[in-house]
Parts: sequence; C-alpha cells; structure tokens
Amino acid sequence: MSITPTQASAEAARICEAAPIVPVLVVEDASRAAGLAGALIRGGLPALEVTLRTPAALDAIRAMAEVPGGIAGAGTLLTPEDVIAAKQAGAKFGVSPGATDKLLDAANEVGLPMLPGASTASEAMALLERGYHVQKFFPAEAAGGAPFLKSLASPLPQIRFCPTGGVSPDNAQSYLSLPNVICAGGSWVAPKDAVAQGDWDQIETLARAAAALPR
Ligand code: 3PG
Repeated sequence: MSITPTQASAEAARICEAAPIVPVLVVEDASRAAGLAGALIRGGLPALEVTLRTPAALDAIRAMAEVPGGIAGAGTLLTPEDVIAAKQAGAKFGVSPGATDKLLDAANEVGLPMLPGASTASEAMALLERGYHVQKFFPAEAAGGAPFLKSLASPLPQIRFCPTGGVSPDNAQSYLSLPNVICAGGSWVAPKDAVAQGDWDQIETLARAAAALPR
C-alpha cells in the first residue's frame, strides 16, 4: 500500500517520539539480533535502525521485527532495491544518509515511511517541498553540529530533525535541547564488542542511560 511523503513523515515522527535516541546498528551476526533488540527495548529504546551494511542486516531485521515492543527499521537505504528488500524483511521504517527521487518514490510506492537525510538548507528545503517535515541531519557533527541545526530552526521551523553521525553521550544533550530536534541517532548504545559477546546487560545499561536523556 503506497503512502504520501506527509504520511511517511507523520509515521517517522511517531517513531522518533518513542525515545530520545534511535540506536544505529551494524549487525554482523543475525543470530545476535533478537538478543540485541531485546536489550535495547528493555533499556527503553524501541526504535531500532539496522543499517544495510552487512550481509546479515536483512536477516537481523527479520529477527528484530518479531521481538515484542520493538520497531525495527532499516538504515543506509541507497537504492529502490534496498527499499524493497527492507520492506520485505519487515522493516517498519527506512533511513537514508541523503535522498534521491528514485529512493523516495520507491519508499512511497511500497509504503515504507522514510526518514531521509539532509545536511544543507537547500537539501532540507527540497525535502520539505516534497512533504518531508521530519528529516535526518547527517553527518551531524561533521556538517556543523548543534550550532548548524540551531541556525535552521528560525528560517525552517516546520522541519524537525534526527541528527545522526558523531552523536555521543557527551554531545547528545546539545542536540536534544533544540526546538527542531525530535530525536537523535547513534551507535554508542551497541558497542561492537558487547554485541559480539552477547553482553546484553551492558547494552541494556547504555540504552537505559540514553532513554533517560531529557529533550
Ligand atoms: C552511521 O553512519 O553509522 C550513523 O550515522 C551513526 O554514526 P555514529 O557511529 O557516529 O553514531
């Protein structure tokens, strides 16, 4: 069932409002996916972005989609084929580092709510023109960080952003306190070693701290 960009952004907003942080996950071993999702969800982070950067990613989304209380999504969507594969794996939302017409058209056609990326005023305006009022700001720190986003709030108050890329426990608050930030994305809540070792207690603790960040 197809959706409009406005509907996609409304759904993206609902997902972003579930918690201050969306974990950005690189899953190497799909057999770890359910355990990882469970730890993050128990810690208070239900929306999960599994990046399509590993051969295991789609199986990881399939596994996470079955975990109660979670909202499994797919990140690093670059092509219409990625969109279709993510949707078929059960992703409830999609994230892309930037945006192309082909990518957005495919997502709307298959009904995958997108959080498309922008890193300049013109890119944000082009997405807004299409109806996307919730956008990813990527790569957040490298593209100007919280001061840049703060500067967009006055001329573009109708856009809310999910900054991702270089967001950490040290700087998350500087983003989350901005009026035009709806949530932030970050990989720190799922350190590679902890995932490989199945150290779900550590990940749950990191998630709990992230979920408690004020916004
Ligand atoms: C990424 O590209 O992997 C995401 O933006 C997450 O970035 P981070 O590892 O800096 O949180």
